[in-house]
Amino acid sequence: MTEEATATQVRQEIPITVHINGAAQSTAIAPNVLLSEFLRDHLALTGTHVGCDTSQCGACTVLVDGRVVKSCTILAVQADGMSVTTVEGLRAGSVLHPVQEAFRAHHALQCGFCTPGALMLAAGLLMDNPHPTRSEIREGLDGIVCRCTGYENIVEAVADAAERLAEEVRPHGA
Ligand code: FES
Ligand code: FES
Repeated sequence: MTEEATATQVRQEIPITVHINGAAQSTAIAPNVLLSEFLRDHLALTGTHVGCDTSQCGACTVLVDGRVVKSCTILAVQADGMSVTTVEGLRAGSVLHPVQEAFRAHHALQCGFCTPGALMLAAGLLMDNPHPTRSEIREGLDGIVCRCTGYENIVEAVADAAERLAEEVRPHGA
């Protein structure tokens, strides 16, 4: 196969439908487009940051069908038929997600570059394990690199978010 034929094949677009933050997005996309590129460049969801493109920094973390995924590690076509939640979809209307409230309360960010990924990682971590120990939180945060905070405030924020989420499901006074 010639180089030109290969390039044409790569450019050939594939129809996909991905549910992004609760809304179906149907489009046709080249098979080599990363999910992170799809979110940022095609849907203008630039809350998902790209720090390395080599699956190390975690800034691009989103939830795919409720699972924590670094969006630079999968292709957009692989998300066909799936639900993707980005940082833009974390809050409910004007109400911040408890993880966002906890990050704010504990000053768990400085420059903010890692923050969208850290928030999504924390949200996913607490879905899997609603009552993590500090050690489990530290282990769970292994997927993000933060060059500013030293992680202590992020760990405290995730622990606080666990409390806030538990309070939401627990009847008051129980
Ligand atoms: S941009 Fe995806 S892990 Fe760094
Ligand atoms: S707050 Fe700056 S990289 Fe984490």
